Amino acid sequence: MSDVLSQPLTLPCGAMLPNRIAKAAMTEGLATPLGLPTPELETLYGLWSDGGAGMLLSGNIQVDADHLERPGNVIIDREPDEAMRAALASWAKAATRGGNHFWAQISHAGRQTQKIVNPHPKAPSPVKLGLPGGQFGEPVALTAEEIADIVRRFGVCAAAVKEAGFTGVQVHSAHGYLLSEFLSPRSNQRDDQYGGSLENRARALLEIVGTVRKAVGPEFPVAVKLNSADFQKGGFAFEDSLQVARWLEQAGVDLIEISGGTYEQPRLLGVEGMEAVEEQHVKQSTLMREAYFVDFALAMQEKVSIPLMVTGGFRRRDAMEQAITSGGADLIGLGRPMCVMTDAPKQLLQGLEELPRFESQLSFFPPWLSFLGRLKALKPMAIFGVQYWFYAQLDKLGRTGRPEPDMSVFAATKLLMSLQKQIL
Ligand SMILES: Cc1cc2nc3c(=O)[nH]c(=O)nc-3n(C[C@H](O)[C@H](O)[C@H](O)COP(=O)(O)O)c2cc1C
Repeated sequence: MSDVLSQPLTLPCGAMLPNRIAKAAMTEGLATPLGLPTPELETLYGLWSDGGAGMLLSGNIQVDADHLERPGNVIIDREPDEAMRAALASWAKAATRGGNHFWAQISHAGRQTQKIVNPHPKAPSPVKLGLPGGQFGEPVALTAEEIADIVRRFGVCAAAVKEAGFTGVQVHSAHGYLLSEFLSPRSNQRDDQYGGSLENRARALLEIVGTVRKAVGPEFPVAVKLNSADFQKGGFAFEDSLQVARWLEQAGVDLIEISGGTYEQPRLLGVEGMEAVEEQHVKQSTLMREAYFVDFALAMQEKVSIPLMVTGGFRRRDAMEQAITSGGADLIGLGRPMCVMTDAPKQLLQGLEELPRFESQLSFFPPWLSFLGRLKALKPMAIFGVQYWFYAQLDKLGRTGRPEPDMSVFAATKLLMSLQKQIL
């Protein structure tokens, strides 16, 4: 067994991560209706902190209460009051008790805000999500003043989490949320300084990175989660991602996390959406096939020299080790396995060969109706249903300290719907 995963990683700002495994951001839905962190979040992150990861990323922390990715998100949309300061500090204390880093993922959901939160969410342009089911509203284009306000809010949020004891921040610019919408010519059809050329489409992100850096100072980790591509025709392509990565490096970002896809094309979960996957021009390696984005990271490492975290699909320890020794990844992100096996990093570091692949055993429809999940109108329900199973595991971990892996996807969906109603 190689020891590459247990090697520390020093970031350009000088901070050091104790090993090469990170828990990727996963929305928890465990905050109060006003967006305050709760004891349940402390229980969940305490378990993860005991679980051996060198770094934990929080789920989406939102900068605007009207643009949640989901009810139950933590919300920091202003200078925190006393109650918010205390709740953030307790959360950070629990999440760092194992000596690991704990970074806040800061986000704005843009047009991927559910209708139950906001029927007219703000977005770069009034381009509606192409999903059946009526879960998302009609977006309204942001004005330049509103964009400036969002940029400011990211800075306020970053300063607040730093003060509370978080040890880093990540700007969420992937997965079809607001900043990823700005990057894509499909969802950004503006003709002002925030639309058109790639430089203009990346402007909001780069302004936010500059504001966040100013808010936290030069020695605090600032990361960005970036799509390798949206995998949609006419969307944000890998060539664009390479250029944005170069700009982020020049802007002094410490780490880029590579992911990919959107709600319309959920490649982040290794799933194909409503339309065919738009293949990208990248050399295919045969070595680490299970990891969805490692080939992109390998190609990106040739263009930038800042550390890359790669998330999506990693389950075998040898694939993780190879991703690091080949120079593709500096840090391995783990998501779904951590929803049940909270100490997956510790187990890997102690020699476990492979993590469970819960996603390959889960299905919204029973086997005899599995064809329904392939129908266009029902596909999103099948994908979201499986995702709700993971949400339900996080909910159980936070409330009881234990997952419930025997729960069916259908029962998890029902649970999530009722929790959502309680919080709204
Ligand atoms: C339950 C769940 C919640 C997620 N929430 C977020 C999130 O808040 N922010 C984010 O950037 N990605 C989120 N993701 C995506 C993960 O960070 C990760 O990119 C994805 O799960 C692929 O990694 P995996 O194959 O190890 O699960 C979520 C994924 C899951 C399963």
